[in-house]
Amino acid sequence: MSWRTKSRLTWLRSLAGVSEEEPLASHTSFGIGGPAEFFVELGRPAAIVQALEGCRERGIPYLVLGAGTNLLIADEGIEGLVIRVVNREHSVEGTRIKAGAGLKMMRLARIAADANLRGFEFAIGVPGTVGGAVYQNAGCWGKEIREVLVQVEGYVPGTGARTWSVGDLKFGYRTSALREGALRGALVIAAEIQLQRGDGEEAKRMMAKLTRERTETQPIKTKNCGSVFKNPTGDSAGRLVQAAGLKGAREGAAIVSPLHGNFIVNEGGATAVEVRRLMERTRAEVKRRFGIELELEVELVGRWK
Ligand code: EPU
Repeated sequence: MSWRTKSRLTWLRSLAGVSEEEPLASHTSFGIGGPAEFFVELGRPAAIVQALEGCRERGIPYLVLGAGTNLLIADEGIEGLVIRVVNREHSVEGTRIKAGAGLKMMRLARIAADANLRGFEFAIGVPGTVGGAVYQNAGCWGKEIREVLVQVEGYVPGTGARTWSVGDLKFGYRTSALREGALRGALVIAAEIQLQRGDGEEAKRMMAKLTRERTETQPIKTKNCGSVFKNPTGDSAGRLVQAAGLKGAREGAAIVSPLHGNFIVNEGGATAVEVRRLMERTRAEVKRRFGIELELEVELVGRWK
């Protein structure tokens, strides 16, 4: 039986600011994805928790979305409620910063530099939000968010508010207990990071240099989802894709970036199915040539047929 009873639909429609059939392509860096059956943007943690608990109690499927930079959303969209988390508050206390899950990592990198704090420059290369970065232990230039984290405030549906230490979150390469472990389905509300006092102007110069470097090696001005595959131990997915002769390979308007083999670019109007086909082709060819199974870094969500 479908969860779509009259009373559940009435409850969804009663949420402040809710919209129906919201196109998600405009909420992802890939510019791809069908509609959210119901969609709401929430900034206050209490309102996010309330919506989430409302769904859980009623058995309504839901998905929490950040900046949508590491997602491939199905063309058929997402059923139930999509909650876009936009809590962007932050506070600096000494060498610590507490940031809302909806704050962009790149913005937080600038906030840290403005406060003359060092050690967070790498975040200028991390698309997405603080919440998304914690969820998958995002990183760049060999540094990961877990290295600067002190603690994370979160919420476990059906259980309540929690404060997690770095150990609780069981971080690994592009993963955590939130993505693949005991805390799956839990929500990140805010994160606290510990940095070092230093010269903010120097931090800004370093970030400008890192961004120039990234512009030369990654197609950052295009519609993409960041790295498609995780790097296999001791190797690079981009190098393998290039060696397999797949740079420039295409399915419709989706193309393997000629600049970096581990990026797929939406040239305009690409569908999720085209991207998925290209991913599968790439995976199969790398396996055939080198015997290496590439593992997806990007997350596939929604109603795949
Ligand atoms: N390479 C190639 N051909 C390519 C791409 C790369 O030969 O088409 C070679 C490079 O020359 C280099 C090596 O592969 O020797 C590694 O490439 P790169 O330095 O570009 O880094 P990467 O391992 O591909 C990782 C992260 C990126 C992050 C960069 C920079 C993963 C999956 N990717 O990429 O993260 O920005 O390092 O630090 O770990 C992301 O997570 O979405 C992401 C973009």
